[in-house]
Amino acid sequence: MQLERSAHWRTDRIDLFLLKPQHVDAAYVAWLNDPLINRYLESRFVVHTLDSTRAFVQRCLDSPQTLFLGVRSSALAGRHVGNIKLAPIDARHGLGEIGILIGDRSAWGQGLASDAIAALANIAKHQLGLRKLTAGCYASNVGSRKAFAKAGFETEGERRAHFLLDGHPETLMLMARWLD
Ligand SMILES: CC(C)(COP(=O)(O)OP(=O)(O)OC[C@H]1O[C@@H](n2cnc3c(N)ncnc32)[C@H](O)[C@@H]1OP(=O)(O)O)[C@@H](O)C(=O)NCCC(=O)NCCS
Repeated sequence: MQLERSAHWRTDRIDLFLLKPQHVDAAYVAWLNDPLINRYLESRFVVHTLDSTRAFVQRCLDSPQTLFLGVRSSALAGRHVGNIKLAPIDARHGLGEIGILIGDRSAWGQGLASDAIAALANIAKHQLGLRKLTAGCYASNVGSRKAFAKAGFETEGERRAHFLLDGHPETLMLMARWLD
């Protein structure tokens, strides 16, 4: 996604910034490999390294269908605590899918995910001209479902027994927010 390289978006709690390979450090890679943090992420099935993660961030930066942002917490002295992604962006239908990871566990439960989702919805509406945002949450990922709900998403459907979690079928909740 081509946006100004110095692009930043701020709320009271967070600063969103365009994620680049140089923002990937050992702490970021550790989030991806931590089974407590990646429990509900499809990225959990492979081991991540600095190189693989930097390459992933570069591919996102190069893709016109992806806007990948880092999340910094004001309360934690501007520390990089997670990421939020809008992808794929489907300009023909005005659609975008959101994925979020607040990887720094000391930052959980402070409203950062809700804020980041709401801020990205603003960007999607006002800068990208999108019309509808979607997200998928494992049914038992209560924190994620609540964060999307707080940011104005509703449940538009579900895929029953869709994924396997610890070998057991798990329903995928389909969340959506219309931007008009
Ligand atoms: C799920 C996740 C995004 C939540 O981030 P967060 O910054 O802690 O979320 P918020 O602080 O905005 O919380 C929103 C609401 O959910 C609640 N909540 C957060 N985590 C929770 C949990 N594990 N269990 C129950 N409620 C939880 C918060 O208390 C808050 O509720 P409230 O408004 O009633 O106080 C974060 O824990 C995370 O990134 N987890 C790992 C990756 C992941 O699962 N991503 C989502 C994939 S769809």
